[in-house]
Amino acid sequence: MNSGLIDEVSAILRNAAADVVLPRFQKLQAGQIEEKSPGEVVTIADREAEQIITPRLMSLLPGSRVVGEEATAETPALMDELDEGDVWLVDPIDGTANFVAGSPVFSVMVALLRRGETVAAWLLEPVSDRLAVASLGAGAFVDGIRLHTESSCPDVASSRGAVLTRFLPDALKKTVAANASRFSAILPGTRCSGVDYPAVATGKQNFVMFWRLLPWDHAPGALLLSEAGGWVARLDGSSYDPSDQRPGLLAAQNRDVWQTVRRKLLET
Ligand code: IPD
Ligand code: CA
Ligand code: CA
Repeated sequence: MNSGLIDEVSAILRNAAADVVLPRFQKLQAGQIEEKSPGEVVTIADREAEQIITPRLMSLLPGSRVVGEEATAETPALMDELDEGDVWLVDPIDGTANFVAGSPVFSVMVALLRRGETVAAWLLEPVSDRLAVASLGAGAFVDGIRLHTESSCPDVASSRGAVLTRFLPDALKKTVAANASRFSAILPGTRCSGVDYPAVATGKQNFVMFWRLLPWDHAPGALLLSEAGGWVARLDGSSYDPSDQRPGLLAAQNRDVWQTVRRKLLET
């Protein structure tokens, strides 16, 4: 991945954030927020950001297509054949519930899939302007500083991580609750994948576990963390594939931590 493309996409995200997202932050009117499905909100800022970002990404790579969260809500077939050609996955605002609540914990995310493999990722937190980028085989960076996760495996009793329980089946929720006291802390997550993955990649926590696997929520962070030295895999140990939406994913600071957490957190 050439650094020109990394910079061009970064500029597209920063411009969209400056033009239509940040002006709405803590200033949304009631009519600018909608429930697109039960419990899932969308705002004028999500829609406008995706509309701005989509043609700009397509013009960067001739023949590429864009699969945006909001366009897919209207046309679900857009998600078909993610494993063909160049596909940009766009999450115009990740953490919309936080954005609506006036919390700065939201991000704008893009991943580039090439024949189904994630080859580049961008995660921008507009309020702080913190930008995380990664490209396959070339590392992960936050604001230009290369990330390297810890290669050691802490005691379970001193490790901490988040488990996103909103979509977790009841049986698994009970298992996690029963095993939680083995860990230093089991956190609820931030409701923003664009912050939860960087929290592991930068060493703030040791792991994060997700259930629902929408590709725009996970492809960017999974590449970021893998390129930083982390380990991301489905709960059965198989590799993460953004075109496969079957649930359950564990992301950890390295492979040893992944295996230990998988065992200690999900043991029945
Ligand atoms: C949400 C965030 C959150 C995840 C939810 C997503 P959205 O994205 O990524 O971390 O747990 O499943 O829906 O809807 O705010 O873009
Ligand atoms: Ca999202
Ligand atoms: Ca979103």
